[in-house]
Amino acid sequence: MMKIERVTVVGCGAMGSGIAQAVAQAGYSVYAVDMITEQLAKAQANIGKGLDRMVAKGKFTREFADALLNRITFIDDIAKATDVDMAIEAVSENLPLKQTIFAQLDTLLPEHAVISSNTSSMLIREVSAEAARKDKILGTHFFNPVYAMKLVEVVCTDQTSDETYASVKAFLESIGKITVKAPDSTGFIVNTVLGAAADAGFALVKKGVTPQDVDTALKLGANYPMGPFELMDYCGLDITYYALQEKYEKSGYDEELRPPEVLKELVEAGHYGLKTKWGFYKYE
Ligand code: 3HC
Repeated sequence: MMKIERVTVVGCGAMGSGIAQAVAQAGYSVYAVDMITEQLAKAQANIGKGLDRMVAKGKFTREFADALLNRITFIDDIAKATDVDMAIEAVSENLPLKQTIFAQLDTLLPEHAVISSNTSSMLIREVSAEAARKDKILGTHFFNPVYAMKLVEVVCTDQTSDETYASVKAFLESIGKITVKAPDSTGFIVNTVLGAAADAGFALVKKGVTPQDVDTALKLGANYPMGPFELMDYCGLDITYYALQEKYEKSGYDEELRPPEVLKELVEAGHYGLKTKWGFYKYE
């Protein structure tokens, strides 16, 4: 079994930067790569702010927080972040983009390195279609916020080797995560079930229930930490919308699968939830 010690995370949005932080928090050095330099600066600032809050709460010492941040090398050139045992692709949910990154990583990384995708809505075998090292490819689906969510779904294709699975599982455990093995089918485990809850929520909204009441009901009646609408706001309505749109298109435009109008309207107006301070809720 290969010991994974050096990691590159490609894509510095909420998930990529959360993953980079989790890796660095466990004591590893990690590259956080994004081609957009403003995104790198934003990721660095966001991680820094979160760490400052942990210091203020007395959960981390200043020294620990500074050392953690110093272990993350923010870099805009993927070719300079290739001396690693594993690369985790966490760019936006755009299939051609993911496929290009996989092909690039496949060419640039040393032969022994593993490549994983953090996709939440695509198939690992499709994301990795243009990469050759099929036995060293799999999915590692983290949850938002990465610092608080213990789970990672590990998704093997029928070509992923047992050694790759074992190495990645051991690595994820070493950063404090608990893994489950999920099938390479749309939604894996968690999003399949969360998607069903969201569908039920939208059906209730169509009947005149407010999203806020659906959330309150589930929080107070079922001890959900967040209701489905609050959770969609938290994760990004754009992400949910594009995942549903893709499912709709792939079905050959089955009317049953058409994304809810209320969601489409919010996304088309640029209201993506918490990150734009407006979604099903408005945020100060
Ligand atoms: N760095 C490191 N640790 C941090 C941190 C930081 N910047 N900020 C907080 N923490 C730690 C805290 O110390 C705390 O640790 P503890 O449990 O050991 O005390 C823990 O993280 C949680 O801290 P919070 O203060 O943020 O916790 P809250 O009680 O306010 O809960 C929440 C916030 C965790 C977001 C909670 O509301 C929740 O669980 N919501 C549901 C989240 C969820 O379901 N996510 C999954 C979404 S689906 C997904 O991601 C799939 C994808 O495909 C879209």
